Amino acid sequence: MPAAESPLASVLFPAARIASRVRELADDIARETDLAGIDELTAVVVADGALMFAADLLRALPRPVRFQSVKMSSYGGATHSSGVARLIGPAPEVNGRHVLIVEDILDTGLTLNALHALLLAGGAASVRTAVLLDKPAGRRSPYAADHVGFICPDAFVVGYGLDFDGRYRNLPEIGELRRELRPAGH
Ligand code: PRP
Repeated sequence: MPAAESPLASVLFPAARIASRVRELADDIARETDLAGIDELTAVVVADGALMFAADLLRALPRPVRFQSVKMSSYGGATHSSGVARLIGPAPEVNGRHVLIVEDILDTGLTLNALHALLLAGGAASVRTAVLLDKPAGRRSPYAADHVGFICPDAFVVGYGLDFDGRYRNLPEIGELRRELRPAGH
């Protein structure tokens, strides 16, 4: 069977580069938790996009980790355009715990601002954030992540968890989606 043509116009972050950067992030997080005297982290993973990143990051983290996933209101939905993201489903159990939010991309900042506030309100002892991609050009609400894998250019990116309409999350690399596959206006 012939190989399907790649849906990517260009590869921005090849799989090997992602893998080595994720290991570096895990080392940084381990060092930071040691310095802070934290024994156990509670990972709050923002589904669905962050699942690939979380799977690799958390397995590279040589520390005890509790795992929780949350689903936040979706990109471009009514809540985002109104400037507020919200939690869909039950709130994670974080009272008294040291939380590491794991997120695939920090774009407008609406998701992480809302989630961070919600975790603090839920009694988290501390909240730190690891994002694989930071796209500063998209920011509508200021947010600085503690750990950033890569600065992402202002492009329509998919792969390694990032999707368009549920597709392309399983690509091992991250790249810009071919123009004819993007939604109109992108
Ligand atoms: C995307 C992405 C982040 C969020 C970032 O999720 O995975 O969670 O948006 O955007 P922001 O900084 O502009 O708030 P999406 O809602 O598309 O859902 P998904 O993770 O299931 O793809």
